[in-house]
Amino acid sequence: MSFTLPSRIADRPVVIIGAGTLGRRIAAVFRSGGAAVRIVDLSEAQRTAASEYVESTTAELRAGLNPAEIGDVRPLETFANTEDAVPGAWLVIEAVPERLDIKVPLFGTLDRIADPDALLATNSSSFESSQLLGEVTHPERVLNMHFAMPPAGMAVELMGDGQTADGILELLDRELRVFGLVPFIAHGQSVGFIFNRIWAAIKRESLAVVAEGVSTPADVDAIMRANMGLKAGPFQLMDQVGLDVVLDIENHYIDAYPWLPTESRDFVKSYVDAGRLGRKSGEGFYSYDQAPAQS
Ligand SMILES: NC(=O)c1ccc[n+]([C@@H]2O[C@H](COP(=O)([O-])OP(=O)(O)OC[C@H]3O[C@@H](n4cnc5c(N)ncnc54)[C@H](O)[C@@H]3O)[C@@H](O)[C@H]2O)c1
Repeated sequence: MSFTLPSRIADRPVVIIGAGTLGRRIAAVFRSGGAAVRIVDLSEAQRTAASEYVESTTAELRAGLNPAEIGDVRPLETFANTEDAVPGAWLVIEAVPERLDIKVPLFGTLDRIADPDALLATNSSSFESSQLLGEVTHPERVLNMHFAMPPAGMAVELMGDGQTADGILELLDRELRVFGLVPFIAHGQSVGFIFNRIWAAIKRESLAVVAEGVSTPADVDAIMRANMGLKAGPFQLMDQVGLDVVLDIENHYIDAYPWLPTESRDFVKSYVDAGRLGRKSGEGFYSYDQAPAQS
């Protein structure tokens, strides 16, 4: 299928759908580099919190960028409706919850309302973009764009859906660097891309040694910091991601690879069932007045 790469990128907005943990961080990164950013979230409280986060981080993020490459800061816009926000954008990135019943209809909507040359990206941690095409008629402009945890982690993994048009991943590989991001292209289809596939195995075994009573979250994090030079261990990072999100991701890997053991998933679920979701609920593997310092 023929596809024309987006033009006038510097003049057109970047739309972020979902203003939670990741969406607001992605929005901050683009806004700091001078992009016109539009945030969409169903929740007014999330829109407000995201705006406050973006406003409070823009200046610091800009200080790390090359002034010769970035434009002036533009007003941040927030929307309750995707339909109002998307027209005109050159890039749409969704960061809504890790659920196919939300993401598949959303991509159908984006496919219908986005400009013909707009790129449609998912920040999903575990779904390949090829799994989100059920209501899409133009798969050639759909891709995975997986952010780690900006601004602390500026890696972003780019992966096509198997039908993504030539040149899109390379265009993004160039454009995203302006915003201080560090892109990596996954060549071929891979559940978990590059980094998450490796990290999933580390997380699973960390959970297992704690579930079996062999060690504690604090000791596992400490040994990983001591031996691997990590700034934060797996339990600190899972608490930051949110244990409900971690649970969704574990469930997806188990669906994709049925031979994986389920004990680690069940252990995370016991925390979620108890309302311990990590940093965002004030308690997860750690209580947040006692958590080790984290970058
Ligand atoms: N949390 C992480 O560390 C992390 C890291 C990388 C990627 N991701 C991926 O990012 C995505 C979002 O994760 P998160 O942790 O930011 O989730 P989150 O729960 O913190 O935020 C999701 C947001 O989406 C909003 N939302 C739900 N349905 C919506 C809709 N139809 N339209 C607009 N907004 C809607 C919610 O109100 C919420 O604010 C997931 O796909 C996840 O796999 C998360």
